[in-house]
Amino acid sequence: MCGIVGYTGSKDAYPILIKGLQRLEYRGYDSAGVALMNDKTTLHKCKGKVVDLQNHIGSGLTTGTAGIGHTRWATHGEPNDVNAHPHTSMSGDIVLIHNGIIENYDSVRKELIHRGYTFHSETDTEVLVNLIEEIKKSEACSLSEAIRKALNEVIGAYAIVVMSNSEPGTLVAAKKSSPLVIGIGPDKDYYLASDATPIVEYTKNVVYLEDGEIAEIIPGKDLKLFTIQKQNVTPYIQELELQLEQLEKSGYDHFMLKEIYEQPRSVRDSLRGRLNLAAGLVHLGGMADYEQKLLNANRITIVACGTSWHAGLVGEYLIEDLARIPVEVEYASEFRYRNPIITEKDVVIAISQSGETADTLAALELAKSKGATILGICNVVGSTISRTTHGGSYTHAGPEIGVASTKAFTSQVTVLSLLALMLGNKKGSIERSKFLRLLYGLNEIPEKIERALQTNDLVELISAKFKDASNFLYLGRGYCFPVALEGALKLKEISYIHAEGYPAAEMKHGPIALIDEEMPVVVIATKGPSYEKVVSNIQEVKARKGVLIAIVTEGDTQVKEMADYTIEIPETDEIFSPLVASVPLQLLSYHIAVMRECNVDQPRNLAKSVTVE
Ligand code: F6R
Repeated sequence: MCGIVGYTGSKDAYPILIKGLQRLEYRGYDSAGVALMNDKTTLHKCKGKVVDLQNHIGSGLTTGTAGIGHTRWATHGEPNDVNAHPHTSMSGDIVLIHNGIIENYDSVRKELIHRGYTFHSETDTEVLVNLIEEIKKSEACSLSEAIRKALNEVIGAYAIVVMSNSEPGTLVAAKKSSPLVIGIGPDKDYYLASDATPIVEYTKNVVYLEDGEIAEIIPGKDLKLFTIQKQNVTPYIQELELQLEQLEKSGYDHFMLKEIYEQPRSVRDSLRGRLNLAAGLVHLGGMADYEQKLLNANRITIVACGTSWHAGLVGEYLIEDLARIPVEVEYASEFRYRNPIITEKDVVIAISQSGETADTLAALELAKSKGATILGICNVVGSTISRTTHGGSYTHAGPEIGVASTKAFTSQVTVLSLLALMLGNKKGSIERSKFLRLLYGLNEIPEKIERALQTNDLVELISAKFKDASNFLYLGRGYCFPVALEGALKLKEISYIHAEGYPAAEMKHGPIALIDEEMPVVVIATKGPSYEKVVSNIQEVKARKGVLIAIVTEGDTQVKEMADYTIEIPETDEIFSPLVASVPLQLLSYHIAVMRECNVDQPRNLAKSVTVE
């Protein structure tokens, strides 16, 4: 979602801002803009991508050693030049960028109109910048004090960065429920961004702003932090682990393809130091302290959205299967509004790649307020969810830039596999011999993913046959049902083809009506306890002339005879099949999207980090 960048120091701000906005493109957006501070502010903004902004600016004025930039994902008001950020106050004195939503903007707007303010855009942001101006003027206070007072009057979520002609070079930033990171350069020059990706090439020293904190940033001076209640805060400076190379495409055509191919490495990194074959144990650091809580929990509730929710479903199967602890998986957005029964005997686990998803965060906060133990499985180190939870484990997949989640999913499932094994072993609900067999099986997964990636050429050929289809059906049973859901989601989000994932046996209760010779049906039919049942479901599809693409275990002959196309993947224990079976489905969606000339890494309307509810 919206991306924020800012710079103040002795360098030329414009190239830093543009590069920063390009780094944040993966978050998803529909307009972009920058404001630069000279004697007074220069503002450029337009609908479209960062490259459109650069073309729009052309040879226009871009000088200044302080500035702010923004990529906007529309909430209030359509994507157009006027609604794009930055927004200026009525007098032109103050300029502001904002990520989030000001919920009481309408009442504040009416009050400001009453005081003579006029508005040009449909945004809640223009309301905020004028409220700051009104307070600054009427109370004759500094920019940071006016911001502090204004933020006490608004309800909602925000990360903001503000500049004023009256205090050239100063940036003021604030945050509540939307992320903001401040990088501190060697000469006390400052880099601000929604996440660390635009900052890492300049400095590794960062401060993650906490909710309710305001930063007054003056180049050459120490960073000053205080709360909206006016309490001073000592900045906690952390060192970034992120490497610049992780943010480049490294020769791949798209980040998504790079990330699909990174999975042997990312799964290995998720396992590293946690799976000890010699000692025959699993140690999942951040979860181990909560082992007894998890084992004695009334119930474990997993909250997540989208792909992370699919990983959560696999987690439910794993934990119930191996550790015999009841698990429920909830869409975070439903959980938070449905008055769930949660007590201090519950454990709630949030799964989130970004660690910033607004609904997942709110679901966790609700569970925390009811006394539950809250844990996280996140990818982004230092993200809000990882800082809000009592404990948890990082997935260590490395930065995921493609909007469609791939390696984050397999890393989440890897961590959930480790968790289920750890709990099952501790509880004694898995026999030792089975536990050890599964440990060895899990350890072999990266190599099996490598082999699954070798299906790429075949998958590309199959993609060419189906690139013009209008609908797809994905079927799976047991552990492969979430894989079917995930395969369908990948296809629809990047190729804009309608696709549905269904439990294979459930098909005859409705979707079977859709099947005809025009309908490609992707079936995950790997070897496992429900193989024969899936074979029956395949026959039901064939009987109705559906076109079958089957993911099968290497050496399969039975399904091969029935399916139109088969993609063979290495055999695994059934419980790890999602880790391997999802790989050809990721490739299928990728190739179809490329053939349809879709914007694979930044699909329309989607955002990587969904920071509004
Ligand atoms: C789909 C996808 C989304 C995310 C969802 C949750 O490919 O990426 O469905 O999984 O928006 O995001 P996180 O995991 O960051 O909470």
